[in-house]
Amino acid sequence: MPDLVFDRPKHILSAGQFDRPFLDYIYELTNTIRKYDKSKDGLQYLQSLLTHRRAMLYFTQPSTRTFMSFQAACHILGMKPSEIRDSSTSSERKGESIEDSLRTFASYVDLIIMRSPVAGLSDRMACLLDETPRPVPIINAGSGPDEHPTQSILDIYTLQRSFKSASAIENKTICMVGDLKRGRTIRSLSRLLTNYPGVKLLFVSPPEFKIEDDLRQFLLKSKISFDETTNFLDAIGTADAIYMTRVQDEYDLGLGDSKRVDTSKYALKYQHLPLLKQECVIMHPLPRRSELDPAIDIDPRAKYWRQERNGMWTRVALITILMGVDQHIVLPRL
Ligand code: CP
Repeated sequence: MPDLVFDRPKHILSAGQFDRPFLDYIYELTNTIRKYDKSKDGLQYLQSLLTHRRAMLYFTQPSTRTFMSFQAACHILGMKPSEIRDSSTSSERKGESIEDSLRTFASYVDLIIMRSPVAGLSDRMACLLDETPRPVPIINAGSGPDEHPTQSILDIYTLQRSFKSASAIENKTICMVGDLKRGRTIRSLSRLLTNYPGVKLLFVSPPEFKIEDDLRQFLLKSKISFDETTNFLDAIGTADAIYMTRVQDEYDLGLGDSKRVDTSKYALKYQHLPLLKQECVIMHPLPRRSELDPAIDIDPRAKYWRQERNGMWTRVALITILMGVDQHIVLPRL
């Protein structure tokens, strides 16, 4: 493996904390880890790396793939995971503060992976734990409509593998569609793509679901090229990758707010496939609803099921970096 050319992160909180050297390193590490997976000896070696460490999966917002892929990543590395998936089953139900809950987890485990409906909560908890005698690392596994940094790591990895190299992401047009206002995957992926020169972002949504102004200002400052449109059919024909997302109605302020927005024009249907570029990459963080036609699953350009598995491997790599065992992953050992 190459030497580290970045400071080892203490926590994983935001896509904004990653630069290109980090991304190139984690993807090379991920590719190497996948080679270990090809043999029993390789897998047993991975499982020996963190047998002395424990992780906490604290997910107080629904999740299937992020939860399961982190759990599987812990298993792959021999790490023992504990879980709370509903704060009504913890002492928060008895009035314990979130701050005291996190300090309690830190007493028992060496890594906290947390998902919460509250934007910025993982940042706040990381600051809190840093002030304690046992400052364990925190991974943000989704924080309200704010950030989903580990999703964006797997998304870029999927783009890199689909385009055959990291440099091939450069100069591509990436079209993001759906509820861009409240989609945390959109926010994190947009931030991460500013590390790839020449990329153009094309945001496609109904006017009610346009990107938030803070993201717009960030993109303007980073000088990445981007455009916003309501014209779905024109946009998908120019895209090298299409990233579909669902309506995030869990963040509706009033009951049924999202239902009043006409999203019917922002769905990728089987009959749209001839409009797409021959090598276009079709992605979705999942879960999906009607915005992504299941009939598309058989098209070789559909990469969303690969995204799921890529998530497990990139999360294995991320945990090895956070826990300081990535330098033990050296291919010639096999
Ligand atoms: N992509 C994603 O975060 O999926 P889950 O909500 O199922 O974890």
